[in-house]
Amino acid sequence: MKYCWDDFRINKSVKKSEVLKQFIATRNYTEKMVEPLTAGDFESQPVEYVSPPKWHWGHTTWFFEQFLLTESAIDYKWFDDDFAFLFNSYYNTIGSRVLRAERGNLTRPVVEEVLNYRKEITNRMTSWMSQNELTDKQLDLIVLGINHEQQHQELLLTDIKYILGHNPLFPSYDGKARVESKNQGELKWINVKEGLHSIGFNGEDFCYDNELSKHTVFLHEFDISNQLITNGEFIEFIGSKGYENFDYWLDEGWSWVHKNQIDSPKYWYHENGEWHHYTLAGYQKVNPNDILSHISYYEAAAFAEWKGMRLPTEFEWEAASDKFDWGTRWEWCASSYLPYPGFDKPEGAVGEYNGKFMMNQMVMRGASVATAPNHSRKTYRNFFHPHFQWQFSGIRLAKKQKV
Ligand SMILES: [Fe+2]
Repeated sequence: MKYCWDDFRINKSVKKSEVLKQFIATRNYTEKMVEPLTAGDFESQPVEYVSPPKWHWGHTTWFFEQFLLTESAIDYKWFDDDFAFLFNSYYNTIGSRVLRAERGNLTRPVVEEVLNYRKEITNRMTSWMSQNELTDKQLDLIVLGINHEQQHQELLLTDIKYILGHNPLFPSYDGKARVESKNQGELKWINVKEGLHSIGFNGEDFCYDNELSKHTVFLHEFDISNQLITNGEFIEFIGSKGYENFDYWLDEGWSWVHKNQIDSPKYWYHENGEWHHYTLAGYQKVNPNDILSHISYYEAAAFAEWKGMRLPTEFEWEAASDKFDWGTRWEWCASSYLPYPGFDKPEGAVGEYNGKFMMNQMVMRGASVATAPNHSRKTYRNFFHPHFQWQFSGIRLAKKQKV
């Protein structure tokens, strides 16, 4: 299994034929990703926030049918009249839907029916795109749909890891999976001088609405690490009773640790005096040199405090990002997910894509080993609630400042 998606860049200005090629490649990859799964794996929903792989398949297909094909013909006939109810995620503009926590109840339609749905909608989209002049708005929506499916490809992988990682047999997804590690070289502190910095997207390629508008921020001088924290460094934190000392923790994080009896990153188990963890390649010993993954914002902030340091803000991260390698872990930032100056949500249902989530979540920057390589960029803003551990999340530190 290859974890890199085809090397293409989605650009609004490229020709329709290129968008069609990208559309087909993206659709095919989503189907290739599930080859190691059993029928049972497809329907499992161990917790509310993990969606069954079959639902991801249906939902990414529904997106194209709902937002494009239904507009393509006055007398358009849905593949199945129930599917808008089954596979709408959170779009109130569209209407009622299956509750998120009940996606695992969808033992019908069966996997083969959802696969047929995928193939039929891919064919309808291909015919429609090939045989018609498309407006700029339609091309924009197709590119959004491709990016949306790429986002779900990452969620699909993180959800598959959760499903298999909570099976007592710890089945491997792919015995050759090496998505957990990277050699980072020598530790260096990158100094960025006080001044004005341009933040936000300013280009011709695709970006999400939450990366707009480009604006200027003032930053005090800061130092940020060129490296991500390793498993070995986090084992030191655990060994020094980091999970037991309230002084390192934000109050909400301290409550989360106690309420949920958290004592390590997700998928970690202490066995015979050594740390082990579930990986996509199966259950194995934790390699102290590998890059830490699957930690909450609370754990990232507590670790930074224990180190006498802090997490960078998303603006510091973006201002320094050309000077370090990123893309292995989503990096928690000390920034709430809020609209930029000039942010305006698009008209219609797609206006619900990002804007309505701009409270009570923290920003993550970069990308992870599970992200399509050309899906992210330095202005990309990912966001999750601070307690979530199931994404490939990590820690980059900044030094505390004297201002
Ligand atoms: Fe979605």
